[in-house]
Amino acid sequence: MPVLWWSSKQSTARISAALQTESLVFPGGKGYPDAEALNSVILGDNLAVMSALLPAYAGRINLIYADPPFYTNRRYPARIGRGEDSRRPRDWKLAEGYPDHWRDLDAYLDMLYPRLVLMHRLLAPTGSLYLHLDWHANAYARVLLDEIFGAERLLNEIIWVYHGPSPIRSAFNRKHDTILAYTKSERYTFNADAVRQPYDSSTVKAFAATPKAGFGKKPNLERGKVPEDWWYFPVVARLHRERTGYPTQKPQALLERILLASSNPGDLVADFFAGSGTMAVAAAQLGRNYIASDVAPRAVQTMRARLAGETTASFKVQMVQTQPGGEDGLPQSSQERQLSPELFSREIVEGGVRITLDASLLPNLEYWEADPAWNGNVFRSAVQVVRPRRKLLTADQAHVPLVPGSAPICVRLIYANGEMAQALLAKPAGGAGSL
Ligand SMILES: C[S@@+](CC[C@H](N)C(=O)[O-])C[C@H]1O[C@@H](n2cnc3c(N)ncnc32)[C@H](O)[C@@H]1O
Repeated sequence: MPVLWWSSKQSTARISAALQTESLVFPGGKGYPDAEALNSVILGDNLAVMSALLPAYAGRINLIYADPPFYTNRRYPARIGRGEDSRRPRDWKLAEGYPDHWRDLDAYLDMLYPRLVLMHRLLAPTGSLYLHLDWHANAYARVLLDEIFGAERLLNEIIWVYHGPSPIRSAFNRKHDTILAYTKSERYTFNADAVRQPYDSSTVKAFAATPKAGFGKKPNLERGKVPEDWWYFPVVARLHRERTGYPTQKPQALLERILLASSNPGDLVADFFAGSGTMAVAAAQLGRNYIASDVAPRAVQTMRARLAGETTASFKVQMVQTQPGGEDGLPQSSQERQLSPELFSREIVEGGVRITLDASLLPNLEYWEADPAWNGNVFRSAVQVVRPRRKLLTADQAHVPLVPGSAPICVRLIYANGEMAQALLAKPAGGAGSL
């Protein structure tokens, strides 16, 4: 079998890494403080993240979706403005998103190859990997996946087609991505009935018109058909309801089809290039457990807010720490700016404390959350206030449960530019009144 070779090719990178939990998030307060968080959002380079997961998760992940940088040699800024005119990109307010810049193809493959090897090790025997790329690198990736999984393990080459404006005048407009689906073994999960679609009306009419249609073989028209290996879903730019502003966000419907076909409720699914967290949101809504990681703090902030607002299952937020002897410089715990407690008024109300933010804190606020009893170690988020899509965050009040004991309430604020701030608030003394 042909194998791809380049001079720096290495399938393994020795990384000794561990995960540290920095928050537990209970969306809407559900399950606070005791529910076990079966889901994880992890900040860090996925080579270290997957290395840290290996001892506990090798052979245990049922489905991995991977949407890495595509080798486009571009930068992808995040849009952080509100209510801007989509047709006037020059007026958009932008912030750092993620880079897709490489010295050359070798450098890109040096990134991709060891990560694909780790994903293969993490997959359960019945598991599948869906690798999402486009024309820039998918041909090379396919040869790598043939080597790692075996060429006979290619399940599908899926073409996702979409529309959109394009400046190209010297070639056909490039409007499709390629998703390479591989299974770990010949015994794999594929739920055909979960993804069936109605037949086209022309097919239904043809079978109604003559018994000879389909050479006499009539399909079960009521049951619908298993989709072809080319899929049309509109890009997120056209789906304003979904859009987070994080670059190259994928449509949730696309992830739902992958999840429904290749995993079951209760399964563990993972996305190690998670971006805005589309896979994690779809997974949680479909009753799967998830691990979602990204190296960009903005991605982790985006998915944290998104998961808090759109899902109900609790999740851990973790950071990867490389041990001495580890290879890469990973993001370290961010230092929050400390805010004066005077910016938060507190009032005892029925069953809790009503916290009101000073108006000066609201401009450009993305979301804020509260831990009713800060233990100085892991932030346990029981209350989240998330900015509504395409609107400014104006909710300046939240009701925080009153937990016995002297531990302070911790309030964290996350701004559109990625800045974080926090305040420790003493609980108001019992009875009605405010601080
Ligand atoms: C194409 S985007 C993913 C978009 C995502 N599917 C969504 O729907 O929002 C690729 C992501 O991979 C992340 N990334 C790139 N290199 C990484 C690495 N070595 N480890 C972890 N994440 C990485 C980038 O920060 C970026 O968020």
